[in-house]
Amino acid sequence: MFCGKGGVGKTSSTVALALYLSSQRNKKVAVVDYDGGHSVANTLGLSSKLVPNIINKTDHNMSIVVVENTSFVPIKEAKRRGFTIDQYLQQFPGSLGILPLSDMVCEFFGVLTDVITMQKFAILVDVLAQLEKEKYTHVIIDVEPTAGLERLLTNAESTVHSLLNLQNKGRAELALIGVKWPEIRAYLKGEYIRHADQHCVQIQRTVKRLKASKYFIVCTPEASPVDQTFEVRRIIEKFGGRVTGYVVNNMRNEPHESDVLSRLSGVGVPLVLMQRRNELHRPGANKTEILLQMGEILVREGM
Ligand SMILES: Nc1ncnc2c1ncn2[C@@H]1O[C@H](COP(=O)(O)OP(=O)(O)OP(=O)(O)O)[C@@H](O)[C@H]1O
Ligand SMILES: [Mg+2]
Repeated sequence: MFCGKGGVGKTSSTVALALYLSSQRNKKVAVVDYDGGHSVANTLGLSSKLVPNIINKTDHNMSIVVVENTSFVPIKEAKRRGFTIDQYLQQFPGSLGILPLSDMVCEFFGVLTDVITMQKFAILVDVLAQLEKEKYTHVIIDVEPTAGLERLLTNAESTVHSLLNLQNKGRAELALIGVKWPEIRAYLKGEYIRHADQHCVQIQRTVKRLKASKYFIVCTPEASPVDQTFEVRRIIEKFGGRVTGYVVNNMRNEPHESDVLSRLSGVGVPLVLMQRRNELHRPGANKTEILLQMGEILVREGM
């Protein structure tokens, strides 16, 4: 997983590593774009539009999953529009059973649950489970810069907490509504609740796996991105994750760089220096080849 200040080369490093591992080391690799905006596909020069939230296989012997929120009509609005409870529930694919539960508790009882962020994390959990089932050996997640990373990791934790709360208290509260509303009573006994239970277990497992993942911090050899690495590391370690390497991208061998880099000298994990590759931007450049070379350096030097 890569993180750091915006525009430092996170996505390029992610794609470079994925390309190298899949084409030169024969690994089954997926890149998860948790940053939106289809930047992974753009970096690979893919023109075809990727379908969000499913495993898209590419010609490059690697897969891409773009995690995106999908819209849904909240329960009160659904009721106002005359949806049956089944029509409402159909908005949530079976394995996302936890979402209607949080939506209803949020809408009926004003419990402050950020359903939208919970949804994005729930989709990620679902995607990771699919990738595991299909025996992917490497999953690389491209996360938004600092704020996005913090949101992902603290949400992971708070999602688990709100879930446990929802499981017990939320269900009891809904049962009260169910006294007057038989459809809710049926819902509380139905398969969606069973999916919510399974999902809760899966979310807890995923948070555990995320903690045990490798975290790579990407920066460039300038003061501000390097400053940012300390903040990013703090966020990762607060979550319980471990930083396993740094990429200093866009090295141009200018005199000021060694001063800035000296601040990273005590980080205690591999520091991969990646040269600026101007040829990446020349018209007609073989981008894949250049990214592959970058990927080889990443693996050789400690990833
Ligand atoms: N080593 C490099 N040499 C030359 N150009 C590079 C290098 N690394 C990245 N770039 C270019 O810099 C730009 C930003 O890179 P990239 O998209 O990988 O950064 P990012 O950290 O993912 O940005 P964002 O915060 O927008 O997600 C791109 O145009 C990319 O092609
Ligand atoms: Mg990016």
